Amino acid sequence: MLPALHAAGIGISRAVLGGSHSVAIYPPIDSLTPLDSRSVIDKIDWGKEASLYVHIAFCETRCTFCHYTVDHYAGKHSIEGDAKVARYLAALKRELAFWGARLARSGTVVSSVYIGGGTPLVLDESALRDLICAIRSEYDLRSGAEFCIEGSPLTITAPEGEYKLRSLKAQGVTRLSFGVQSFDDEVLKYAARGYKRETPIRACAIANRIFENWNLDLIQGLYKGSTSEVWDNLEAIAEIRPPHLTWYHGRFGDRPQGHWFRTETKRVEFEDEFTTLLGRILIWQEMAALGYDQTDGNRFVRSQEFTDPFKRIRTTAASDLLGLGAGAYSHGGVKVAKANSLGHVFRNDPNIPSYVDAVLTGNVPIATGRAVNEEELLAASYATGLRIGRIEDENLRSLRCAHPELSRYYDGLVDELNNAGALEAYLDDRGQAGLRLSALGKLFEDEALCLFFSPAVKSELARRTTSERKMQLA
Ligand SMILES: C[S@@+](CC[C@H](N)C(=O)[O-])C[C@H]1O[C@@H](n2cnc3c(N)ncnc32)[C@H](O)[C@@H]1O
Ligand code: SF4
Repeated sequence: MLPALHAAGIGISRAVLGGSHSVAIYPPIDSLTPLDSRSVIDKIDWGKEASLYVHIAFCETRCTFCHYTVDHYAGKHSIEGDAKVARYLAALKRELAFWGARLARSGTVVSSVYIGGGTPLVLDESALRDLICAIRSEYDLRSGAEFCIEGSPLTITAPEGEYKLRSLKAQGVTRLSFGVQSFDDEVLKYAARGYKRETPIRACAIANRIFENWNLDLIQGLYKGSTSEVWDNLEAIAEIRPPHLTWYHGRFGDRPQGHWFRTETKRVEFEDEFTTLLGRILIWQEMAALGYDQTDGNRFVRSQEFTDPFKRIRTTAASDLLGLGAGAYSHGGVKVAKANSLGHVFRNDPNIPSYVDAVLTGNVPIATGRAVNEEELLAASYATGLRIGRIEDENLRSLRCAHPELSRYYDGLVDELNNAGALEAYLDDRGQAGLRLSALGKLFEDEALCLFFSPAVKSELARRTTSERKMQLA
């Protein structure tokens, strides 16, 4: 089947996709262009509900595969490190107040909170408490709102780890998420995670004692990863049985593992496409045998109650998302976008010191963005809709009528993917007909979704790739 899929433009990609390792948002990060923040702030028509994401840009390790906006911070050990974190938190609180006032004016209720990173659990207990107090005082949180925080095996097993987690739970945090990446010591060593297998096993036991709902992340296809490593990871999962598991596929940008992948002598230590596909099939088959439900190509739940609502919000743009902190992105007013009233996707400055300086000098730190017009709404209905199922409702039908040429372009793509066996028709619970990725298509989930990016987004991504290549050559 691979040649047919390659002909339809699908193959496992080991490069970041539009600025991320998965199609996390649409329009993608790399398609955002510089914009005047004031032009966005006053135009967004926030809906009745929004999700809040707060980015803590610090980690005690700097992993060789990770392209997130982070800086090294080893906890309370140096005056310089503490001052850097204190300034960042001061900026964050100012940004929380700025947007809190705007959401209050539009009567928007916050339906879920995600404190991510980075590794928020690297902060000390009083800083975390202070941050949560600021969130609660600036925003109208819906009662029973999901409240998730990210940690890491090192921060969870640190002497203060358990105490911090119990305190967070007492303050209303409902879910913990952390990355293990692999239980293989060799893979962990080259990933520069700073621990061996025994540490995440202890971290999982602690998470299990404190939280009912928690997630762990694994990555398939890191340097030295292999099918037997996947199998060992499955055996560890069978013992631990986390409520939620996210099993990413390693994609690298301008990070050490990306350079190793592009170096011939090191490339042999990465899985090839066929091995990756066999590994993914093995993961799906064995996770099902362990009694897990697959919620999309990467995510597994022990029971439906553990499904992560935040991930869905991030990828659908059906509900507003406000992201605060360096490099955080937001989408606002998107679902109500009309030709003359645009929704926006926008992103804060990913450079940590300039984000902090901007906020502390009274400026808005938004650096890039993109208006979500009708063409982008139509693209999003495929690029995010086909993941769980795209049903063409009245709104989408009228969008298609208004854009016949673009609709023909998508029909052509759908035909090609259908012919390659990557899509399937289905009926939802109410008997409505829809279209979604088939099991074969899900093996290439993000790569297939990327094909549906709008022509404008594709041309911006191509322009950026060309100019980056030119810079590398120069
Ligand atoms: C923002 S990190 C937070 C987790 C936490 N800092 C930790 O490492 O334990 C979220 C997850 O993204 C995944 N991730 C990061 N870089 C990736 C890459 N290049 N390819 C695939 N997944 C990646 C990792 O599984 C990581 O746990
Ligand atoms: S994977 Fe986690 S700990 Fe490692 S650099 Fe990325 S955010 Fe930090």
